[in-house]
Amino acid sequence: MACQLLLTDFTLPLKSLKLSHSGRRLKGRSIGSQKASTTVAYYGLKTPPYNLDDLEPYMSKRALEVHWGVHHRDFVDNLNKQLGKSDILYGYTMDELVKATYNNGNPLPEFNNAAEVWNHDFFWESMQPGGGDRPNLGLLEQIENDFGSFANFRETFVEAALSLFGSGWVWLVLKRQEKRLAVVKTSNSINPIVWDDIPILNLDMWEHAYYLDYKNDKARYISTFMNHLVSWNAATIRMARAEAFVNLGEPKIPIA
Ligand SMILES: [Fe+2]
Repeated sequence: MACQLLLTDFTLPLKSLKLSHSGRRLKGRSIGSQKASTTVAYYGLKTPPYNLDDLEPYMSKRALEVHWGVHHRDFVDNLNKQLGKSDILYGYTMDELVKATYNNGNPLPEFNNAAEVWNHDFFWESMQPGGGDRPNLGLLEQIENDFGSFANFRETFVEAALSLFGSGWVWLVLKRQEKRLAVVKTSNSINPIVWDDIPILNLDMWEHAYYLDYKNDKARYISTFMNHLVSWNAATIRMARAEAFVNLGEPKIPIA
């Protein structure tokens, strides 16, 4: 249940549905003489926790209008269309849906859209106006423990982003079993919760994430993320929740 707690803020599906008394979804079925309506609407498009021009000049309003307003919206819409075809995946939280549709490495058709919705919700919250700099003390100490220094972590993260082939994501995760932080990169839509890692940060390395502002200069996009956009506040909160789950010993970060 760890991931559910970690991700509680953005995993609740929107259920603007007409339900039977038993709570099951109805699709044009009749109950006695009463025709039940076909139900629609599952997951909503979450709004970033800032205005679309708040990340300028490092990420432009235009880039967010396209990235969030078109690409992210398409993932949500396409997921909802897929889910509308069957009752089987009804009622899952987003992280349950991602894990279920990953299907132990044999992904179901819904996986890519579900994971991309999850990944983008998490990405918007991994940035903030006035971001960058360094983590807060407790998280900084954990990074120094697991990477040797903050500079080493940064170098590892940047190298992973630069060396990622094709489209994908770079993540700072807490490895649940090893109880240590690690940088991982994933191809296309894959989200490390499918391997039971607990995400702390992510960076979108799909071309649509950087092309409008940085053309093909991935290095400048990545360094700008690290210097001006990354939200160590969000990472600190996520780390505190993750620590509570994996029991790293004495918590370094007080949980509010
Ligand atoms: Fe994206």
